[in-house]
Amino acid sequence: MIRSVLLGTGSALPKTCVSNAELAERVDTSDEWIVERTGIRQRYIASEHETTSTLATAAARDACASAGVDPASIDLIILATATPDNTFPATATQVQHALGCGGGIAFDVQAVCSGFLYALSVADSLLKTGQAKRALVIGAETFSRILDWEDRTTCVLFGDGAGAIVLDAQEVAEDGPGVLASRLHADGAHKELLYVDGGPSTTGTVGKLRMRGREVFRHAVVNLADVLKEVLEDTGISSEEIDWIVPHQANARILTATARKLDLPSEKVIVTVDRHANTSAASVPLALDVGVKDGRIQPGDLVMFEAMGGGFTWGASLLRL
Ligand code: COA
Repeated sequence: MIRSVLLGTGSALPKTCVSNAELAERVDTSDEWIVERTGIRQRYIASEHETTSTLATAAARDACASAGVDPASIDLIILATATPDNTFPATATQVQHALGCGGGIAFDVQAVCSGFLYALSVADSLLKTGQAKRALVIGAETFSRILDWEDRTTCVLFGDGAGAIVLDAQEVAEDGPGVLASRLHADGAHKELLYVDGGPSTTGTVGKLRMRGREVFRHAVVNLADVLKEVLEDTGISSEEIDWIVPHQANARILTATARKLDLPSEKVIVTVDRHANTSAASVPLALDVGVKDGRIQPGDLVMFEAMGGGFTWGASLLRL
């Protein structure tokens, strides 16, 4: 059977790191409050010369180098972002141009914090149906550009960054590597709980992020546990067989609560929210790259991705490396 096999991972972070203490000099907050409620200790913030496309391109190059593939061999780029360089063209096309692999497919996916899961699932479908042979799936964000720095309930939670993976369409055995299953969901009824109050067709401005955090939290724990169970049922794999969960990094308490609902020990959860904060679509591939590069995630491991974001959107994917 043809499966989308992961060849390599990569990531990129802005140069400037801002600790909670530094943030507390500008915003009415404290290191103690942020750590206790979220687990976040620091975040990276893009300078004016760093954009979603420059971070995405750096992460893509890193992923190609880790995979040992020439960027020219990439014929599909799907970039998940809610903070594109421009309203159009798609940021993916700018990454494609920077990598020098023009002519293939390149487009953006907008599912906010679940964007990487949506992009992965679409890439997997295009690879399995033979429309492309080798894909870059990227999550890249500069959320600092859409934060209201006067709103302490949101601005302390997010950061900037990019993560990328290379997927290759390969003929593999049933118990071989690749993406095993993905499930995606959306429910537009909850827009008001997490949204940006601007856009090209409404205000004509970029807008700022607005969130009712406590209510988002409640939905996240329920939706994530449900979608993880769906993927396990689809594959017939039990939660004990999972080697690693690589979750969207929004809040350390959501990570713990979701793992507990699935009876998974917290040692199996890759946690990077302490150092990256919530980087939206970038958070899953950033965390994956950390787990792979520090040697915890090994070839043959069963790895579950999960994420939930504005919309609401949510999803999960199971891969064998
Ligand atoms: N520093 C200090 N105090 C703060 C603060 C900050 N940065 N932000 C809020 N507070 C205060 C509030 O004003 C409130 O004070 P009050 O009780 O006097 O009114 C108090 O802290 C509690 O606020 P609340 O919003 O109820 O806290 P919480 O325990 O729900 O934690 C979040 C807030 C945002 C950390 C939490 O709800 C969360 O993580 N939600 C999920 C968000 C998420 O995952 N979003 C992304 C999904 S993709």
